[in-house]
Amino acid sequence: MSNFPSEKPVLITCGLPYANGRCHIGHLRTYVPADIFVRALRKQGQEAAFICGSDAHGTPIVVNAEELSITPGELVNKYHEHFRNIFQKMEVEFSFFGNTDWPTNHARTDSIVETLIERGYVYPQVIRLAYCSHDKRFLPDRFVEGICPYCGKTARGDECDQGCGKHLEPGEIRNAKCRICGNPAEYREQEHFFFKLSAFSGFLSEYLKNLGGTANAINYAKEWAKDLKDWCITRNLEWGVRFPGHEDLVVYVWVDAPIGYISFTEEWANNTGEDWEKYWKRDSRIIHFIGEDITYHHCIFWPAMLKGAGYTLPWAVVASGMLKIDDKKFSKSRGYVVWVDEDYLDHGFHPDLLRYYIISYTSHTKELNFSWKVFQDKVNNELVGALGNFLHRTLHFAHKNFGEIPQCEVDEEIMDKIRSTIENVRASLDEYEFKKATDDMMELAMYGNAYFQSHEPWQLIKKDRDACAVVVKNCLQIAKALALLFEPILPGNMEKAWKQLALEGDVHEARFEGALAEIPGARLDIPEILFSKLEDKKIKEMETILDKRIKIAMSKEKNIEAEMQVITFEEFQRLDIRIGRVISAENIRGSDKLLKLEVDIGEKRQIVAGIAKTHSPGQLVGRQVVVLANMKPAKLFGVESRGMVLAADADGAVLLLPEKEVKEGTRVR
Ligand code: 2FM
Ligand code: ZN
Repeated sequence: MSNFPSEKPVLITCGLPYANGRCHIGHLRTYVPADIFVRALRKQGQEAAFICGSDAHGTPIVVNAEELSITPGELVNKYHEHFRNIFQKMEVEFSFFGNTDWPTNHARTDSIVETLIERGYVYPQVIRLAYCSHDKRFLPDRFVEGICPYCGKTARGDECDQGCGKHLEPGEIRNAKCRICGNPAEYREQEHFFFKLSAFSGFLSEYLKNLGGTANAINYAKEWAKDLKDWCITRNLEWGVRFPGHEDLVVYVWVDAPIGYISFTEEWANNTGEDWEKYWKRDSRIIHFIGEDITYHHCIFWPAMLKGAGYTLPWAVVASGMLKIDDKKFSKSRGYVVWVDEDYLDHGFHPDLLRYYIISYTSHTKELNFSWKVFQDKVNNELVGALGNFLHRTLHFAHKNFGEIPQCEVDEEIMDKIRSTIENVRASLDEYEFKKATDDMMELAMYGNAYFQSHEPWQLIKKDRDACAVVVKNCLQIAKALALLFEPILPGNMEKAWKQLALEGDVHEARFEGALAEIPGARLDIPEILFSKLEDKKIKEMETILDKRIKIAMSKEKNIEAEMQVITFEEFQRLDIRIGRVISAENIRGSDKLLKLEVDIGEKRQIVAGIAKTHSPGQLVGRQVVVLANMKPAKLFGVESRGMVLAADADGAVLLLPEKEVKEGTRVR
């Protein structure tokens, strides 16, 4: 028994793209499979609303708009239109595509936040926040850069996006610098508001036991649910949804963004005479398609918010794996990116080809690698060589020899094959195994090719026209099934195939089960070739475009690095480097790397040095060392360090020494 159709109303959503940049293949990694899934649901007789929209808020949008000297609203409107347009061209057909800055979303967010406050799930707390005294403003999220407290990598704002990937709460980032002026930030206290996520730990652990979707989302979430920290849900910004009763605060973007799923359903329902509460207040099946990097938000934060405010919880979370380009991590700044307009559509590639690549390259939860070479191979071997070849040879032969669909019966064996293919496809779809479903469909095309080949209709027509008619009819029946099965993946081309098969009605509306209804007799036109081979020359051209982009990005990176390596004399003068003498040294409990030193640099300083692997405390006492004296104080393993001992970073630390002994405290210039 398949999961669908279900009696319950079904709502599919896709993670909302930030209206902050162009659409790339990484986006499509989620939207295309979701669109295919929705089309396939409808093909099983399941009505489903398909909801998405622009994520309009958050600091990256404010930062970018400031850099472009436009308002955040102008930036959002531009990219909102861009995404709508690309989705339309890629045949990703949302029932509604909204915008989280629209009034309905402000209103729904207000209402949910008010409810959470009334129910005691939101509380105020004074926290220390990064503040720039030069720009005279607090520095929320992307306005601040510094060091991740968990992994030590450079991190931006609310997320350690280059290191461990952890969500960072306001004030957590270390060595904070203002992103606008580059000055070190200071920390100031201010009252903010927290969502009591920790109160939902027990509820979430239970809820996640039954949540459907893909294992890559649910398994991580089960671990996270055991230990939850409350979330600060307010930010010092102008742009966003106001936090009730506080003119200077907006809610964190991750509050009003998923609420977009509800408010867009409301807008869609208003337009179509539907009832949005059917989905969000009563028993329904809400399925979120997301990228796996936003699992925490969808499996932890969002269900807790919904539960707290009394809304229907998601039924499944389907998380797509990440994207690689030419086996390298996807990166816009490094040039490993394929833009959907500039690099694909503008070159005249048909949307179906990329849709097919995305759905069939690998399992939905695995990493998808895009390369132009593999794209060419898949198109030429699978779409042209298997599917296109079968459809064309069948239609061409039928048209040439019969001019119509023969009026004989289809063999039971063929109907059985079609029946079992549909069952397999439906079972794979239920498991969100889209590649497997596609392979099942392609297997039917290969079966058709083998059937055509082994029955040699080109010989049979000369000897036994009636027997040949049966072979042709069988092939045409398989062709009909393929048009229906592949429609969710290849909507444009299967619409053409449907017409070439002289079938009535709309292939987009027709059901899978129609594949078991005998193809009716009708006149056939000369069939056009649906899929054509991609030539080496075109693929080379595309590879060159990508290579160039990567090279330009690399040279930019080098220039930036080179610029970073140059410092002015004034900057050097800010370094207070002095000669010191080690007075005492000891190991630090629990650390095999660190030593606690007392150093005389004209004054006594306690310094923690990471040299325990190469130096024993006894070797050091009495030696002169070179010390950076105005290093910002830090605590390492709970021991305060006020300075840094300089060493050459060779195979281990090699300490620097003055050429001859000088007085402690002597400046190095
Ligand atoms: O990560 C992102 O791109 C977010 N804009 C996704 C938001 S999804 C939702 F919760 F609204
Ligand atoms: Zn980190």
